[in-house]
Amino acid sequence: MSEEKPKLLVVEDDPGLQAQLKWAWEDFDVVIAGNRAEALAALRSDAPDVVTLDLGLPPDPDGTSEGMAVLDEIMALKPATKVIVASGHGARESALQAVARGAYDFYQKPVDIDALGLIVRRALQLARIEEENRKLAAKAGKEERVLGSLVTGAPEMIKVARTIERVANTSVSVMLLGASGTGKELLARGLHDASDRAGGAFVAINCAAIPENLLESELFGHEKGAFTGAVKTTEGKIEQAEGGTLFLDEVGDIPLQLQVKLLRFLQERVIERIGSRKSIAVDTRVVCATHQDLEAMIADGRFREDLYYRLAEIVVKIPTLAERPGDATLLAKVFLGRFAQEMNPAVRGFAPDALAAIDAWGWPGNVRELENRVKRAVIMADGKLVSALDLDLSEPDGEEASALNLKSAREMADRKIIRHALARSEGNISSTAKLLGISRPTLYDLLKQYDLHA
Ligand SMILES: Nc1ncnc2c1ncn2[C@@H]1O[C@H](COP(=O)(O)OP(=O)(O)OP(=O)(O)O)[C@@H](O)[C@H]1O
Ligand SMILES: [Mg+2]
Repeated sequence: MSEEKPKLLVVEDDPGLQAQLKWAWEDFDVVIAGNRAEALAALRSDAPDVVTLDLGLPPDPDGTSEGMAVLDEIMALKPATKVIVASGHGARESALQAVARGAYDFYQKPVDIDALGLIVRRALQLARIEEENRKLAAKAGKEERVLGSLVTGAPEMIKVARTIERVANTSVSVMLLGASGTGKELLARGLHDASDRAGGAFVAINCAAIPENLLESELFGHEKGAFTGAVKTTEGKIEQAEGGTLFLDEVGDIPLQLQVKLLRFLQERVIERIGSRKSIAVDTRVVCATHQDLEAMIADGRFREDLYYRLAEIVVKIPTLAERPGDATLLAKVFLGRFAQEMNPAVRGFAPDALAAIDAWGWPGNVRELENRVKRAVIMADGKLVSALDLDLSEPDGEEASALNLKSAREMADRKIIRHALARSEGNISSTAKLLGISRPTLYDLLKQYDLHA
């Protein structure tokens, strides 16, 4: 990424001064606003570090009420912004009042560009130092909370967590790809918590769970009377995520015509509610997830490629539970502890047959399935230990009985034993092969044949 010029927002209603100020700064990217609404829209969309603010704005060009109101709103929305107010001749009083309300400094009109330049650059420098400090403080204080609810001992998953932590404080869009129950939402929340937007809202929307005809309004909001049933003006999820993170779950389920509208938002960062032409700037970090094969959907024309690239600046693939050797038993113990405490304190742990069954199971529903089974087992357990029967995992017999021929029965047994060995040797091929009493090449062949992963 190339070094971007710092943004300077100039709030000034006099067209002559606007022009003069616009071109006075070579090293700034200058944005001009002529009134309160424009100033606040620019604040949201451009996030300037420094603002110069004329206190005499319409509808009160000769007083300071409108300028002060703008100042108050900037301080409420983005308190770290450095605002430099312009005071008219002899209006030192109001300038000082502005500083008391949070302005960084003031300058005297008529404007002396060189003098103002010094103030602006100093303000920018201070803003940068403060931001740096905020980031450092956040990092130092959050080490423990970062992805704090994620339980894993598997290198595959630790790598995923590290990636999430690393991208958290950038603004790149992140796409989480993983089968159902692998922890997509947990990771999306973890990303939000680890980011500098943690103070804002985390707003999740499951695009597959909302009927197509309601999804647009759910995302973009609507004005009162925009359609039958729109009895009051309602903010959409995108707007609700202002200053925070928007999590678009099952993004592959967004219908094509809505994909266009979403793309527009991602490009321009403004939305219009249904039934309104007013553009509303929204500053939010977008994280999305899907279990679908978006590349195949793009090839079939069911998902827009341009939208894909906007959403997937970073793609994080989440391994299935079966691909994280050892994690099933680890997670099971954590869940057991949690649920026992809540629902059945007599339960102390797993019986050995239960742990073996957990280790051997394929977990098609991943962590969600594991969590549900352990919860049910804890509730059902009679004694101190949860058994395989409590977990409803003792049916391999049934599975084997239904295998009508010897070949498929043997395959099933092979799979199970290989998975066991992989889990026990933490995915190490040599030790797995040794455990199984076969050579490494044979193990590789079997892994390939059964589509298993070390
Ligand atoms: N590594 C983990 N450590 C602890 N809890 C986890 C982990 N992964 C998932 N969970 C828990 O498992 C459940 C399912 O996770 P989550 O909802 O994040 O998955 P998902 O991929 O969004 O699933 P779905 O596709 O069903 O929406 C949640 O209760 C979550 O807290
Ligand atoms: Mg989910």
